[in-house]
Amino acid sequence: MPPVISVQHLQKRYKDVVAVADASFEVAQGEIFGLLGSNGAGKTTAVECLQGLRKASGGELRVLDMDPRTQARELRRRIGSQLQESSLPDHIRVGEALDLFAAITPGGHDWREVMGQWGLGDKRKASYHALSGGQRQRLFIALALVNGPELVFLDEMTTGLDPAARRVAWDLVRRVRDMGTTVVLVTHFMEEAERLCDRIAVMDAGRIVAEGAPQKLVTDFAKYVTVVFSTDAPDVEFLARVPHVAKVMRHGSRVEVRGDGAVLAHVACSLVEHDITPPDLRVELPTLEDVFLALTGHEMEE
Ligand SMILES: Nc1ncnc2c1ncn2[C@@H]1O[C@H](COP(=O)(O)OP(=O)(O)OP(=O)(O)O)[C@@H](O)[C@H]1O
Ligand SMILES: [Mg+2]
Repeated sequence: MPPVISVQHLQKRYKDVVAVADASFEVAQGEIFGLLGSNGAGKTTAVECLQGLRKASGGELRVLDMDPRTQARELRRRIGSQLQESSLPDHIRVGEALDLFAAITPGGHDWREVMGQWGLGDKRKASYHALSGGQRQRLFIALALVNGPELVFLDEMTTGLDPAARRVAWDLVRRVRDMGTTVVLVTHFMEEAERLCDRIAVMDAGRIVAEGAPQKLVTDFAKYVTVVFSTDAPDVEFLARVPHVAKVMRHGSRVEVRGDGAVLAHVACSLVEHDITPPDLRVELPTLEDVFLALTGHEMEE
């Protein structure tokens, strides 16, 4: 099956600002693809180019086998789009907005059902300006999905949602994917990326710096583990000389020892030799957040 999205050497410049320098990636049919990156990395610009909302300055783009630069109108009938910066007229009611969006592209879902799924059933008659931030956000997601798109772009879908609403949103997005819709998700939430995305690309300063399944990125990039424990012992400097230890950090009674896979056994042994037997000795495995910081913030110098 050909990819739903194929991007080769995408470039986007705004006068002298290079928003996307060189981005290449593919998104397969039926996957949830995450785009991660720091503020200003170029994520929104990239997904807006893919939706035909901005004209790429260079590169090859195919979306649902169309060129977003020349077939934007046709493309937008088949995709759903939740933009990072969205707005509606103040007085439009929730039900009216959904009805309107459903009418523009017939053949989608029953808008009342979508309204209920996104927890807006009791807000049907509420005006846009009277919605809370999270309710507005849910309305924009519902609007992106009401036409039953083949491909949906969600740019910071869960920003502003409370933790419970965020989990509901994840479940609904999984359902959308399971029904065959391909999802492109821009997010800053590592937990969201880790739990929801089949594959992610990390963008930094307009370039894709890593791509793969979240768990694979963690195992590929994070080669160390961290042993953590607490102690009142004044001196733990001896740990720096223990085999497999790369770094010892101490914050009050909390001690963190970084090293490769064998470090836990060696640290445990050395602690016992020094009569330190912390009951909370444990190993913390790297997370997607560590990988992200390593790729974009140079936090993991070892
Ligand atoms: N219309 C514009 N004109 C000029 N520069 C722009 C414009 N839109 C975006 N930029 C610049 O392009 C770069 C990428 O912006 P973009 O919005 O794509 O980043 P982002 O990765 O989505 O960031 P965030 O996580 O903060 O949403 C930034 O330096 C931004 O200032
Ligand atoms: Mg953005």
